[in-house]
Amino acid sequence: MCGIVAVIGSRPAAPLLLEGLKRLEYRGYDSAGLATIKSSSKSSKGFLRCLRANGKLANLMNLVDEKGAPGYLGIGHTRWATHGKPEERNAHPHRDSSGGLAVVQNGIVENHISLRKSLEEEGVHFVSDTDTEVIPHLISRELCLLRSDGQPANSALLLEAVRKVSLQLKGAYALAVLWEEVPDALVVAKKQAPLLIGLGEGEFLCASDTPALAGFTRTILPLEDGEIALLSPLGIELFDSGGNRQQRSPSLLKSQEDEATKRHFRHFMLKEIYEQSEIASLWVDRHLPLGLPGEDPVAFPFRDSFYKGVENIQILACGTSRHAAMVGAYLLEQFAGIPTTVFYASEFRYAPPPLTPNTLTIGVTQSGETADTLSALIMEDQRRKLHGGALFASKQLGITNRIDSSIARQVPYILDIGAGLEVGVAATKTFLGQLLTFYGLAIAFASKRKNRSTHDLITLRDELRCFPSQLHALIRQHDEIAANLAPSFSDTQNVIFLGRGINYPIALEGALKLKEISYIHAEGYPAGEMKHGPIAMLEKYVPVISIATPGLVFEKVLSNAQEAKARDAKLIGVAPEGPVTEIFDVLMPIPEVSEWISPLFSVIPMQLLSYHIAANRGLDVDQPRNLAKSVTVE
Ligand code: M6R
Repeated sequence: MCGIVAVIGSRPAAPLLLEGLKRLEYRGYDSAGLATIKSSSKSSKGFLRCLRANGKLANLMNLVDEKGAPGYLGIGHTRWATHGKPEERNAHPHRDSSGGLAVVQNGIVENHISLRKSLEEEGVHFVSDTDTEVIPHLISRELCLLRSDGQPANSALLLEAVRKVSLQLKGAYALAVLWEEVPDALVVAKKQAPLLIGLGEGEFLCASDTPALAGFTRTILPLEDGEIALLSPLGIELFDSGGNRQQRSPSLLKSQEDEATKRHFRHFMLKEIYEQSEIASLWVDRHLPLGLPGEDPVAFPFRDSFYKGVENIQILACGTSRHAAMVGAYLLEQFAGIPTTVFYASEFRYAPPPLTPNTLTIGVTQSGETADTLSALIMEDQRRKLHGGALFASKQLGITNRIDSSIARQVPYILDIGAGLEVGVAATKTFLGQLLTFYGLAIAFASKRKNRSTHDLITLRDELRCFPSQLHALIRQHDEIAANLAPSFSDTQNVIFLGRGINYPIALEGALKLKEISYIHAEGYPAGEMKHGPIAMLEKYVPVISIATPGLVFEKVLSNAQEAKARDAKLIGVAPEGPVTEIFDVLMPIPEVSEWISPLFSVIPMQLLSYHIAANRGLDVDQPRNLAKSVTVE
């Protein structure tokens, strides 16, 4: 959600900024901008050049080609609009009234209205609708106050001004500031929004996320909340919000940030859907032993003390990660026997349930940066610590695809889903990775708690071991089926997805995927719930996609599908081939597997159908409108 890059060093800044922004474009692509400072041989002051363009980064690249952005010092931004429409005037960097001080920010200044009002009363004229624009004006005001005794401009003054302003900002921010009066200094600060400093050879590159550092350095210094840093050719000076100098050693990135390519695929999303069979194989090899006599059913990720005494689990997540968590909750409750509740992270933070004893809290986030999830985890940790006592002690686990992300620094236990870089904004392979992680966790808990017989544990493990070999063929088959089906959705405006039990979250995920990339209104319901209201929507132009997998609720789902058919709805079944599934107008066949592992199969037609419907409509599948891969505002 907005990407920031800032660089200071001995190479021209603009190409480094653009390269970094390209790797952060997944965070927002409403507009982009950069500012650089060119030093002058005749004066101690430099010259600030600010270029901004509405729309994708390519527009900014063209502008930089045309106009040039000289200098070895610069800041850049790719925007996901919060305050103010995606227009050039709302694009970052924002400047003070002199035009010589520029700021890029990620986050939301929650008290921007009162700050703006007080600045306007002092005569400041605002040119954008953003919350960010208050920041350069506030820094400028602070600089005037600090220089009222005639002090010359210097980097210490800029640092102090930014520090003082940061104390006035409510909400979350990561920001980078340039001032042409000090053409050899860059100031960065952060609170509740990610910001890392990458240490190169004689240069520093700051960024919101690690992909921007690929090819630049593997040595990083992540800023902590409230910290502020002054970067100059001489080095980094780090301070806390009280202005006290901080000493901390840099660390090395754990993950390899490879540059993703589409290979022969038309879109990243399609490539990532195909990659799922490989991810599944790797996961199986890594986590499920071969099944030798006496062997554990799963490679337990943690020591016994992790599992010991856990009586309840609560899972906090958003969007697709929440759907994976719902499948996980089903497994943890029904297979491992632990009461488990899933919460919208954004709701949990402000309306947490009463404390339960011996509770494990799991945060699920592929990006590891989702502000709603991170804040909810912090809140939960704090309230459990406040409550005191071993009974309510805070035990937190993060499930993520990004082991260098904020969640990995925030919680003590981490499970890496190992899905590799996902570029498509719509999550696909990370969803599968999250599901698999929950399977591993459920087997581990069931085994440690002795909640299941050895036979049950081994049966599930063996089914999971076989599943990757079936996946590749399934993906190919549904790629073709979905491509053929997609044109029949060209005028569709509403779609209903139905599922029950462990496949209800897959119905929700199917609906979310379709909405996200094709902009067709879609809702997922528990199949039995349709007759309690949503059935009123049904008519022949509203397709119903029903997941019917053999097991506890098979017949019930088929009856619910019949109810839809009786209302003329076009009925698409995600079900095994057989006489009973002939009721469907169109069948998207999946293998007949146990109900436990059926979500791993039923999600594939959902992903491919959404993909082909959107691609068939000529939409930007990988970067759908209004979305971002990493949502770092609450
Ligand atoms: O990075 P996270 O998993 O925490 O992201 C949560 C949601 O923002 C995310 O799943 C969103 O719903 C995606 N666009 C799904 O395709």
